[in-house]
Formats: sequence, C-alpha cells, structure tokens
Amino acid sequence: ATERTLSIIKPDATRRNLTGRINAKFEEAGLRIVAQKRIRLTKDQAEAFYGVHKERPFFAGLVSFMTSGPVVVQVLEGDDAVARNRAIMGATDPRKAEAGTIRAEFAEDIEANSVHGSDAADTAAQEIAFFFAGVEIVG
Ligand code: CMP
Repeated sequence: ATERTLSIIKPDATRRNLTGRINAKFEEAGLRIVAQKRIRLTKDQAEAFYGVHKERPFFAGLVSFMTSGPVVVQVLEGDDAVARNRAIMGATDPRKAEAGTIRAEFAEDIEANSVHGSDAADTAAQEIAFFFAGVEIVG
C-alpha cells in the first residue's frame, strides 16, 4: 500500500554536499519526495525527536551531532515506503550495511550514518507531524 515515511539527511551528509546523491537513491528506488526542507535543529528539537533514546549511552553524542550542522527533513511516499526506505538506507552501522545502500556508500560511522528513517508506520506518522504541517506535504 502507498505509505509515507520521515527521512532526515544528517549533518555529516549535508556537510559533504551529498543531498542530491542521496535523493537520487530514493527516487531510483521508487520513492517520491513529497515534502522537504533544510533546517538547523535546536538542542530541544533533537532531544525531543530522539526522546525514545534518552537513556541510551549514545544520546548526548547523538544530540550534539544532529545539531552540528544543517539537516534536510523530508517526507518520502511510495509503495511500502517505511520498509523500502529502510532497505535503501541499509543497517544503522555502515560496517553491516549491504553494498549499494546509502549507509554503505556514504556513512562515516554508526553515529554519523548520513540518514534517518522512521522504523514503523506509527512512528512515521508521529515523526512526520513533528516536522511538517499537512499543507507542506504535496503528494
Ligand atoms: P537513527 O536511525 O537516526 O536512530 C538513532 C541514531 O543514533 C542512529 O541512527 C545513529 O545516528 C545514532 N547512534 C549512535 N550510536 C549508536 C548505536 N550504538 N546504536 C544505534 N544508534 C546509534
């Protein structure tokens, strides 16, 4: 079924000017970018977005990294978009990511891993609403 998922191109990727190459991967895999904006996350926003991880040892580093430069937040739409996007991204740890995936090609390490994607349909809806008003999403 047609779904939407939230994607973030992370600061390690915007710093290396990889936005277009990453977007090409989404489009080549049949996902449409139906909303997109380049923003600088505040510490409060990064902490709230990643709130589910706040007890994890990597939380402080993650918030610091995510606020270290611009990010591109986007809504991807397509058949089975959540799972499809996760397949295109590859494993969180780039050393474990399959060849041809975004993280295998571009990620620097497990933290600076170039992209975020929602992990399920319900979190996708929450994450999309965190960044976008309905009128900003044009399918
Ligand atoms: P993301 O898919 O955005 O979800 C949580 C993020 O935390 C993850 O990608 C990485 O950027 C970061 N992170 C840093 N260290 C770890 C780790 N050990 N395990 C999982 N995620 C990590």
